[in-house]
Amino acid sequence: MSKLFETLQIKSVTLKNRIVVSPMCQYSAVDGFANDWHLVHLGSRAVGGVALIIQEATAVSPEGRITPDDLGLWKDEHKEKLKSITAFIHSQNCLFGVQLAHAGRKASHSSPWKGSKLLKANEGGWQNVAPSAIAFGDETPPAALTKEGIQKVIDDFKKATSRALEVGYDVIEIHAAHGYLLHEFLSPLVNKREDEYGGSFENRTRLLLQVVDGVKQVWPQDKPLFVRISASDWAEGGWDIDESVQLVKTLKQKGVDVIDCSSGGAVKHQKISIGPGYQVPFAERIKKETQITTGAVGLITTPEQAEEILTSGKADFILLARESLRNPYFPMHAASVLKDDIKWPVQYERAKLHP
Ligand SMILES: Cc1cc2nc3c(=O)[nH]c(=O)nc-3n(C[C@H](O)[C@H](O)[C@H](O)COP(=O)(O)O)c2cc1C
Repeated sequence: MSKLFETLQIKSVTLKNRIVVSPMCQYSAVDGFANDWHLVHLGSRAVGGVALIIQEATAVSPEGRITPDDLGLWKDEHKEKLKSITAFIHSQNCLFGVQLAHAGRKASHSSPWKGSKLLKANEGGWQNVAPSAIAFGDETPPAALTKEGIQKVIDDFKKATSRALEVGYDVIEIHAAHGYLLHEFLSPLVNKREDEYGGSFENRTRLLLQVVDGVKQVWPQDKPLFVRISASDWAEGGWDIDESVQLVKTLKQKGVDVIDCSSGGAVKHQKISIGPGYQVPFAERIKKETQITTGAVGLITTPEQAEEILTSGKADFILLARESLRNPYFPMHAASVLKDDIKWPVQYERAKLHP
């Protein structure tokens, strides 16, 4: 059997293979509520045979949304539809996770197909917040978070975790990547604070560690906790892989189970060298130096490439984003290519590709 179709045990959950759907914003919610788009989109990928789907960046507070169209878990009413989506995904023998997020200075923007522009109050926008009052681009600066504001962020992550538990997710992923709030605190290019949340490595990592502590107070010990990080800002003087390794050692001690290794998004002047598997070396180094379970993501598009990443020990599983949009049935196709026999939904068996 290929490595891609080996199971992976993380705490109390067993991934039936090593293929995970990466979180992907759909910008299709109203007031944070999921609807049938989310059911069909996420459900299709469960039917396609992945082991775990991580739901898109889901805001812990209204002001933490990237756009007015983001999913949320800031009120109890959000749970109902998410519970029915969870039930369907579980019915397909697929695990379901949620990525809890706060967009920081990238909040209050329009969706990509509406221009990704900063929204003013009269356009449905709100005051966005960040470690420091520095804008991402050429737009009105965010408000620097007060100490009370920081405490609210920690509390919001904790409350959203309680709701996630009630919804029935198997995994929580804390979004600390892509230039959103928690990453903004990590990055010395974005965080210019002079209090205990800025300056030294210890201070810049404080908020993420406090959020992890808050989530751990609510999330059961036997359920996996993932953190997605941007392992590098790809910019001089920015957050880098050395700091990432140092951070992950502490996250591991605090009981984080998995690091989902992404990169970039903190600053506009980043210079990313993009190519197939371009972020895999980050997963490899973090795994090697901390022995934590890692997921590799970014331009992984073929079964052979995925298999090589796993057999060479560079990561423990792979996450697919755009390839999964192009082909929700990637696992079925990959099993045929790698000559593995996997179970298909009975309804689809007459079309089964044989290894
Ligand atoms: C439509 C779309 C939405 C995305 N939304 C999120 C998100 O909600 N959270 C996140 O961490 N990354 C998000 N990403 C990034 C992906 O999870 C992934 O890291 C990135 O696309 C690289 O993987 P790929 O080359 O397989 O697409 C998004 C990507 C796409 C294409």
